[in-house]
Amino acid sequence: MRIKSLEEYHLEKENFEEKPENFWEEKAKKFVWYRKWDEVLNWDFKSANVEWFKGGKLNITENCLDRHLKNNGDRIAIKWIANNPNEKNIELSYKELHLQVCKFSNVLKSKGINKGDRICLYMPMVPELAIAVLACARIGAIHSVVFAGFSAKSLSDRINDATCKALITSDGGFRGDKITPLKSIADEALRSTPSIEFCIVLERTKSTIDMKDNRDFWWQDEMKNVNINCTPEEMNSEDKLFILYTSGSTGKPKGIVHTTAGYMIYTQYSFENVFQYQENDLYWCTADIGWITGHSYIIYGPLLAGATTVMFEGVPTYPDAGRFWKIVEENKINIFYTAPTAIRALEAKGNEYVRKYNLSSLKVLGTVGEPINEDAWNWYYNEIGNKKCPIVDTWWQTETGGIMISNLAGINKEKATFATLPLPGIKACIVDDKGAELEQNNIEGKLCVKYPWPSMARTIYGDHQRYFNTYFSAFPGKYFSGDGCFKNEEGLFRITGRVDDVIIVSGHNLGTAEIESAIDEHQNVCESAIVGYPHNIKGNGLFAFIICHQKPKKDDEINLEINNLITKHVGPIAKVDSFLYVDGLPKTRSGKIMRRILRKIASGITEDLGDTSTLLDPAVVEKIITEVKNNK
Ligand code: WT7
Repeated sequence: MRIKSLEEYHLEKENFEEKPENFWEEKAKKFVWYRKWDEVLNWDFKSANVEWFKGGKLNITENCLDRHLKNNGDRIAIKWIANNPNEKNIELSYKELHLQVCKFSNVLKSKGINKGDRICLYMPMVPELAIAVLACARIGAIHSVVFAGFSAKSLSDRINDATCKALITSDGGFRGDKITPLKSIADEALRSTPSIEFCIVLERTKSTIDMKDNRDFWWQDEMKNVNINCTPEEMNSEDKLFILYTSGSTGKPKGIVHTTAGYMIYTQYSFENVFQYQENDLYWCTADIGWITGHSYIIYGPLLAGATTVMFEGVPTYPDAGRFWKIVEENKINIFYTAPTAIRALEAKGNEYVRKYNLSSLKVLGTVGEPINEDAWNWYYNEIGNKKCPIVDTWWQTETGGIMISNLAGINKEKATFATLPLPGIKACIVDDKGAELEQNNIEGKLCVKYPWPSMARTIYGDHQRYFNTYFSAFPGKYFSGDGCFKNEEGLFRITGRVDDVIIVSGHNLGTAEIESAIDEHQNVCESAIVGYPHNIKGNGLFAFIICHQKPKKDDEINLEINNLITKHVGPIAKVDSFLYVDGLPKTRSGKIMRRILRKIASGITEDLGDTSTLLDPAVVEKIITEVKNNK
């Protein structure tokens, strides 16, 4: 299945161009199906409806687990590395993982979970999280993983949006020298989640917690006397596999829905090809399973490929900034996939942490989540890869399910800061503001995809209209990513960042609307506007322009209070880095905040702010600039 040379790469592109459905059908044949599909693809971007492999029946866990048992049952499926360097690692073979998944599937079934029920997972990075994800998939329950850094409010919002029937959590989670009190946060969330019937709690940190009779059950107890056999549920190709929430430009987070067959085919295909995975490679993706990267490239992609996937519980800087490299050396990691924010943070700590370790096992390096700047790219290439490892700069999104634009490691050309080219099978294009496709090189515009791909999101849970509006209405007939893109003279793609009101901070997607509404909860705040500005480590920092009823004094506690409100409503991942208290915000006559101007001011630009003629009151801008100068 893997593309092994540049010739094969071009051939694959040609095959796809000639017969796109045939191209994907060939890939689909490699999997175990209970019933073959009747139709490869059915699509209409005008109504945002896409179906792949209709009529087919399958189960993704049959393909992740059972399929490998006969020949590779003893191969390690998950190699888990604890937060505490002195705690023993855990290795789960495919056989053992299969067993655990079957057992937990039966636990869920015995508690009344049926196909189609939604289950929320709020867990630390422990093997049981992967086990729970796969158990849901095995019985046809739809998993909704909520990143363990989100607040009680964010958790309950997500549970309620999907009307989840059960919550799987743990007493707490280890992260560096801290413990996240997951169960007590969950308890707070569960006060306002009427759909939850029960909660299963994994013991991890042995923290003191409350267990509510008849609602809360210990994972370890439930797993004791349970049947070890579980036949996978026969799923239709288009049955929902999972929901994963992501921030939008406006309104509450969107429950992105992925379905079974297409997601399966594309995650294995992209995993094997982008990373050039070869049998017995040890692969480590440092993401959290709470994000799409963890779903597709810690769990599904690698397991579908029969690989050993490393799962790390901790953080890059604990016990010190050499932790990643120590893990690479000790485990002889071959393929390493991380985010620019981690690369920049570790670079800033100095090379002595890197040079202490032998990184010669590395063959391929990957990056994802935000644009990687040239300096970070060079450091990654020179210091981590020792100038011998190709870097795959992988552009994709929660909505795309898998990697869309990237070089294939060592196969086609790489270039610092460029994601390079769409994978064979992906028709990405750049359009101007009116939606006209810009086919020539050396242009900049908005990044779209004009033909369906198997792992694309199918809808937003409970709101198909919003799915259409968000992705298919700006440029009719095309999927719009929300990103800007430059194509150089060779036709290589470089992602320039979001063109909407989503800000990516340390690789996390933050919606301005969510943060602003948290800020507006403060009793002294009338209105606020959040924008991003360039930040050395985080990629973007958050800059808040705030109008107060009573203008705060310099030494006021208000900054802290506002950040606490954001932690409460969104989670500790979002924090305002710079505050400016202003008298007015630049608004258009239709009342929309002109963020373009605020973005410039936030990044230190006070002249040539562009066209301000549509502002209701252009004088507001002058006042803000004066405030910035006074604040220095
Ligand atoms: C947004 C999607 C996909 C997994 C992690 C993020 C940005 C992602 C790159 C890259 C430049 C990138 C885009 C995209 N992004 N990868 N290689 N180069 N930008 O998933 O949270 O859904 O965020 O991340 O802006 O739209 P996500």
